[in-house]
Amino acid sequence: MNNVSKPAPVPLYYQIMSRLLEMIDTGQLKAGDRVPSERELTEQYGVSRMTVRQALRELEAQGYLERVQGKGTFVSIPKVEQPLLSLTSFTEDMRRRGLTPGSVLISAQVVPAGRRCGQALGVSETEPVVRLERLRLAGGQPMALEVTHLPAHLCPGILDDDLTGSLYKILAERYGIALASATQSLEAVSATGPEAKLLGVREGAPLLLMERTSRDREGRVVEYARSLYRGDRYRFSTEMLRQVEGE
Ligand code: GLP
Repeated sequence: MNNVSKPAPVPLYYQIMSRLLEMIDTGQLKAGDRVPSERELTEQYGVSRMTVRQALRELEAQGYLERVQGKGTFVSIPKVEQPLLSLTSFTEDMRRRGLTPGSVLISAQVVPAGRRCGQALGVSETEPVVRLERLRLAGGQPMALEVTHLPAHLCPGILDDDLTGSLYKILAERYGIALASATQSLEAVSATGPEAKLLGVREGAPLLLMERTSRDREGRVVEYARSLYRGDRYRFSTEMLRQVEGE
């Protein structure tokens, strides 16, 4: 029953991956459980160790499994499913999932906007902007690394605030800035050494770079943020409507 089928057109490692995923989906293997060792899986499925290794490596790369040096391979905690429909804050996103949000403030300063950020915010390169670098946590675990820029004239004195909580809350409560819309892009990147260290992943690990330009109710651009989300912790989802041209 357990044996994978050798003449099948689906590669053996993929069949093993599917079996393990099925066990995760049905709860036979739960978050934190140790998956059987390479040797056990080799015997169980009657395949080579290399095949088992490939299946485990692939599931690890996709974030379903986590290898702990000297201890074995474990089922990861499920990814955060993040819909891309509404303009929400990190704090709101984590709370909605029952996770405790947190931040480590890495740096906070006023700097000249520079070209890229100036363009995004619609200000000159020399315009002073507040630059915040924060490591975002959920339940104490690193989830994302964010660099946020805000036009300094919109939020005077913000560097004196406690910036380990929600920035959107500070903008709303202290500065009366009500965010209304944003333009956002998402792309795959790999972690540089320093990013990997902060996020607790290996160098080169897959990350999702999200770039957001947010506007308030008056249409002013109030935020330009670059967020690096851990690829093994996040999954973005969206709803779609089909629009067929010419029909
Ligand atoms: C998300 C967005 C950022 C935004 C942040 C605000 O993470 N990607 O662009 O700055 O939310 O979150 P919070 O209000 O928790 O600081």
